[in-house]
Amino acid sequence: MEEHLPEFICRQAQRLIDAGIEQASAEVEWILCYLTDLDRLNLYLNGPTFINDNVMARFEEIMHRRMEREPLQYILEESWFYGRKFFVSPAVMVPTPETELLCETALRYMRICGHDNPTVLDIGVGSGVASVTIALEMPACRITAVDISEEALAVARKNATDLETPDNIDLRQSDFFSSIKVDEKFNLIISNPPYIADCEYADLSPEVKSDPKLSLLGGPDGLDAVRAIIAKAPDHLLPGGQLMFEIGYLQGEKVCALTENDDRYKSIVILKDLNDIDRVVVLSCRQ
Ligand SMILES: C[S@@+](CC[C@H](N)C(=O)[O-])C[C@H]1O[C@@H](n2cnc3c(N)ncnc32)[C@H](O)[C@@H]1O
Repeated sequence: MEEHLPEFICRQAQRLIDAGIEQASAEVEWILCYLTDLDRLNLYLNGPTFINDNVMARFEEIMHRRMEREPLQYILEESWFYGRKFFVSPAVMVPTPETELLCETALRYMRICGHDNPTVLDIGVGSGVASVTIALEMPACRITAVDISEEALAVARKNATDLETPDNIDLRQSDFFSSIKVDEKFNLIISNPPYIADCEYADLSPEVKSDPKLSLLGGPDGLDAVRAIIAKAPDHLLPGGQLMFEIGYLQGEKVCALTENDDRYKSIVILKDLNDIDRVVVLSCRQ
């Protein structure tokens, strides 16, 4: 490589910026780390010796796809979540950092709830990021993870296997609670449901529009899935159990209104993400 690496990265990042991509330098570094199998520090220390004609040809292919606004995670078939690398394909939504707050909150609850083997139901498992993370961080818990999409379940199964998850995740095809037996009850129910209002779809970025619509769209006000989960969750929670789910921008007040006259819930807490946006709803069951 004749050019200095920082200059090369800067020049390539400008191509992505011109295509409307924001985190451009970080993405170029990610592509180069992927192609050279180096971490970021070693990329800057030793990268140029690894960047040969073959690497450059593959780099160009990836850049062309990315400039067409295909998500980098789909191109590289990888996405980082809670410090681990997950396989992703267009069959699943690209995991977002906001969902780490849901995992963190779920793990904190299970650490203090006092059960040796807490049970968890994950509705809409997708790539499996939440279930696999919880399974690895807390091997004693038992997780039932459902999705309506068989293709998504296949991705979650692959991630559970590739990341050597202990055998504590039961993956099932299910339309919300349809495959959960009447007497199946859990300490915790979690979900990152589809929560984009149908009318917001047109304004989404091309990258987000690459996610399966099934992962995104939640009906006219975005809350169809939330309503279905709130309606049924108390039937499947053990005494003292909690329901936690992710919500979208400005949905906090609407979710409070949905539960305020529901006697089965005794309290609601809404946690904000790093951008100070309402993000995770925690509902405690009365029972
Ligand atoms: C926003 S994605 C979340 C995926 C993953 N949990 C994550 O956080 O990255 C929502 C998931 O819910 C699934 N889903 C949509 N409708 C569903 C339904 N009626 N029953 C079960 N899962 C559903 C979608 O297939 C998708 O995988």
